Formats: sequence, structure tokens, C-alpha cells
Amino acid sequence: MGKVLVTGGAGYIGSHTVIQLAHAGLEVAVLDNLSNSSRGVIARLEELTGKTIQFIHADVRDRDALRAVFSENAYEAVIHFAGLKAVSESQNEPLKYFDNNVSGSIVLFEEMMNADISKLIFSSSATVYGDPGCVCYAETTPLKPINVYGQTKLMVEDILRDIKWANPQWQIALLRYFNPVGAHESGRIGESPFGTPNNLMPFISQVAVGKREKLMVYGNDYPTPDGTGLRDYIHVDDLAAGHLAALNALSKDNSLITVNLGTGKPNSVLEMISAFEKASGVTIPYEIIGRRSGDLPEYYADAHLAKKILNWEAKLGIDRMCADTWRWQKNNPNGYCDQ
Ligand code: NAD
Ligand code: WQD
Repeated sequence: MGKVLVTGGAGYIGSHTVIQLAHAGLEVAVLDNLSNSSRGVIARLEELTGKTIQFIHADVRDRDALRAVFSENAYEAVIHFAGLKAVSESQNEPLKYFDNNVSGSIVLFEEMMNADISKLIFSSSATVYGDPGCVCYAETTPLKPINVYGQTKLMVEDILRDIKWANPQWQIALLRYFNPVGAHESGRIGESPFGTPNNLMPFISQVAVGKREKLMVYGNDYPTPDGTGLRDYIHVDDLAAGHLAALNALSKDNSLITVNLGTGKPNSVLEMISAFEKASGVTIPYEIIGRRSGDLPEYYADAHLAKKILNWEAKLGIDRMCADTWRWQKNNPNGYCDQ
């Protein structure tokens, strides 16, 4: 395998994936517009991998920039993480999401086609399932997103299914992530959201480090064992390993691969708080407030297909997810912002 271009590689999941690609001996380039990440990530990736990581500061919607990148470098594959991911923002600013996530992807795929690059991994999401009326999502579960963000992911999946149909030589993997959490074991890279975190784990860790007073728990009246929401939290390093497994599988299998990347085991909000308290030794003050609009009581992955076709399964449990998040947060209370 030659060189891999990672769009959005300065972001949370992309940066962890870059480390594993580099450790596997691949040459990696990162293309990112830094709209939700920091330049300092690249130096840390170089420090952790001992390799030079080419960084291209560009937007995937910038056709001229992509054309220049593809004409100057021979990439064998693209891993496409670049995109916006905040559900509530997507509801308020739908055009921003369709432009960034859908139009951006179209420009990228067109320029890949012009450059004869036909191996692609796309960051999809469990959000594409929406509210299908069951709690364990298999890849065959109907796709009915319930927010604009999820709609953009389904649209890009549909575009890629059509590209594959028209261009059978394309090798495509659609990876549907569940709830990525955790950080690299070194404590040098992790999730560093700008502003108030939308998601549970970064919020808990910012409370633990003293940046926020308390966690708001969105509802304890769900029909779940402790009344709080159940999700399938997956360690970001397991997720990153799933991308390497998908790259390997694409080299052997010419069909379009669509797989869930989750653990198959749900945990509640209260279980995550308690695991974090155990890992950090810090008490997390919290207050139960009303349900958050658009939240489902429970969902998790049917993770069997990934095991079967990628020979991949998640290995790390919530204690390790919390311990790694805490190491990162404690050592970098302001994320990458101090750099
Ligand atoms: P992130 O925001 O940390 O990373 C995304 C990166 O893409 C950022 O570095 C950002 O600067 C960059 N980017 C955004 N728009 C761009 C553009 N137009 N051109 C170039 N770069 C651009 O998010 P993440 O959590 O690492 O997510 C990565 C991908 O995985 C996203 O596509 C996201 O939708 C998807 N995903 C994330 C989750 C999750 O909960 N984190 C779950 C399922 C799917
Ligand atoms: C988890 C649980 C909340 C914050 C989102 C996106 C999804 C995917 C992953 C990209 C829920 C509860 C949360 C807080 C809380 N992203 N919670 N207090 O909503 O499952 O999924 O991220 O593709 O598309 O929707 O993740 O971490 O926001 O919430 O009580 O301050 O924690 O109600 O039960 P979610 P989350």
C-alpha cells in the first residue's frame, strides 16, 4: 500500500487513525481546513509516530486545491473524515451542513475520479439509522435519519453506492461509527472540542478537570434500567483500528463494504459517570434535567458483520475509555488551545 490522504486528519478520529496508519508503515498526508481542529495536532502526530506527516491546509470544497494536491502526489487511497458533526447546529443551519458534508464530498469524489484514485473509506454514522423502531442496529436496519446531520451522512452514502454501481472498480467502505470516546494512551492526543462540548464524554472530563461546574444529565425517565440513555461507546483507538482493517479488506474484496463500528454493548449515562469517577478519582457533580430534544432512549450496534468481513472487533471497555480520556484531559486541560 502506498500513500494515504486523510481528509479531516487533524480532527479527533482522524488524528488517532493517522497514528495507526503510520505505525502500519503507510505514508500519510493530512488535508484539513482546521475549522474544528488545531495545527498543533500535526506536531504531536509526528512526535508519536516518529514520521513526517505532510499537512495540507485546505478545504475539501476547494477544487483547485484538491486538483493541485492530487497532481503533485500519488495517493492510493483516501480516508474521508472531513465534515461537520454537531446535530443541533445542523438543525439550525442546514445549508452549512449540506454544503460542507455533501457538496464537499462531491468535489472530493470528482477530483479523486479525475486523478484515478478509486479506494475510499467514508466516515458514516449510526445516525443514518435514525429512529428505526429497534434498539440493536444491524447494517440491514432501515435508514431513516431524524436530523440534518444524519441526512447528510445518508446522502453521501447514497452517492457512493451510485458511484460504485457506475464504476465497479471503485473500492469503497462505509463505516458507521457508534459513540467514539477515549483518547490515545500517551495522553498526547484526544478530543478537544471548541466551546461547550455537545457530547457526554468531553463534558464529563471538563467537569472533572474543573472547567465546568457540573454535568447536566438529559433525563432519567427513559425506559432503561437506571432511567438514563443507553449508547454504544467505542474507544477511538478501536475505531482507528477498524479503518486499517477496512483498508486491508478493500485490497482483497471488490464489493462495497458497509459495516457498523461499535462494541455491541450499551452503557447508560450514569454508568459512564461512575466509570469516569473510578478512573479519575474525581467526583463528578451532576444534575438531572429534562430530556434533550431528538435523543433516543437506547441504541447499540450489531457488531457481528465487522468481525466477519473485516476480522475486526472492539477490544477496549469503558474503564479504559475513561482512563485514557482522563489522562488526556488532565495533561491538556485546554486541549490543543495552549499551543
Ligand atoms: P472532528 O470535527 O474532530 O474532525 C473533523 C475534521 O474535519 C476537523 O479537523 C475539521 O477541521 C475538518 N473539516 C471539517 N470540514 C472540512 C472541510 N470542508 N474541509 C477540510 N476539513 C474539514 O470530528 P470527528 O469526531 O473526528 O469526526 C470525523 C468524522 O466522523 C466526521 O465526518 C463525523 O461526521 C464522523 N462521525 C463522528 C462521530 C463522533 O461522534 N465523533 C460519530 C460518527 C461519525
Ligand atoms: C450520549 C448520551 C445524552 C451530553 C451524538 C450524535 C451522533 C454521533 C455521536 C456523529 C445521551 C447524554 C449527553 C450531556 C447527557 N455523532 N448526555 N448530558 O447523542 O448519542 O450521539 O454523537 O455522528 O450522531 O447524535 O451522543 O455524547 O451527545 O450523548 O446526559 O451533556 O449522553 O442524552 O443519552 P449521542 P452524546
